[in-house]
Amino acid sequence: MKKGNFYLLLLLFFAIGNQLMAQTKLVSFKVGQLWYDTNDDLINAHGGSIIYYKHTYYWFGEKRGDADSHGVSVYASKDLYNWEPKGLAFTPSKNTASPIAEGCIMERPKVIYNKKTKKFVLWFHLELRGKGYRAAEVGVAESDHITGPYKYVRSFRPNGNMSRDMTIFVDDNGKAYEIYSSRENYDMRIVALTEDYLNVTPKDSLLFSQHREAPAVFKYKYQYYLITSACTGWAPNEAELRVADNLYGPWKVVGNPMEGGKSKTTFNGQPAFILPVPNKKNCFIYVGDKWNPQNLKDSRYQFLPIEITDGNISIPWRDEWSLSYFNK
Ligand code: DGJ
Repeated sequence: MKKGNFYLLLLLFFAIGNQLMAQTKLVSFKVGQLWYDTNDDLINAHGGSIIYYKHTYYWFGEKRGDADSHGVSVYASKDLYNWEPKGLAFTPSKNTASPIAEGCIMERPKVIYNKKTKKFVLWFHLELRGKGYRAAEVGVAESDHITGPYKYVRSFRPNGNMSRDMTIFVDDNGKAYEIYSSRENYDMRIVALTEDYLNVTPKDSLLFSQHREAPAVFKYKYQYYLITSACTGWAPNEAELRVADNLYGPWKVVGNPMEGGKSKTTFNGQPAFILPVPNKKNCFIYVGDKWNPQNLKDSRYQFLPIEITDGNISIPWRDEWSLSYFNK
């Protein structure tokens, strides 16, 4: 074979190889492993949340650099394994006077859909540019389209209370709540949102004072379950599950729901959110972040099925699993 032809063949071989790699569809969750989007880039969507809309999942998360915050990214998927990047849903502002000026920190973005206003509403933890974690505010943005662009509405401390790690929970009756770490993270609080989901109401209450953060909530058989972490910065610690008949408490401690492997340190991760599996009653996916504080964008994701046996809730470690788990 001529030398030129050989190189041509080699090139063709690599091109086809690459194409095949790019087209390989994922069929399972490989927990905590490198996870590439459909463009073959690492998924950059930390501390986020997923919503299901018109037969598609949308995953919103923190787009991080090594340490900095680049806004809120969004990915779309039909199967929860293969994610197509849809760009930045919410972008920090070029205007240095804006509360969301480039250099601010946007964390734990949660998107909810308001059936009455037909708007998508994004809530996130906001820290102001150059102020470290001292501002402790929550931010609100909205859009007519699920993938954005989201437009900044306001940011504030709910009823004057510091708000750092947070989550948003929408109950079956459409009422929405922010559950948030307050008073330097010593308090976990809840506040009801207004009907349009764009603000908070005065219905704001202390849940418990145990120095917890990273709240993630789900509802199962008329009871509410809340998983939180302790407060050790980016370093992992032990998770705790609580249960309540009412979102405003009392919240009874159940214990650490994690089982197997590194369960004492939440598998070296931290709760981000819990996804009720659409069209599957009583099925939930726990999603955690395995943070890499040296390079935040390289933090990994931990999707794990929540195991419910005889009313007992646990999250056992799995290296790999698929949604067929929920068929049993
Ligand atoms: C832990 C929080 O859960 C993260 O979202 C982030 O705010 C880090 N602390 C910052 O240290």
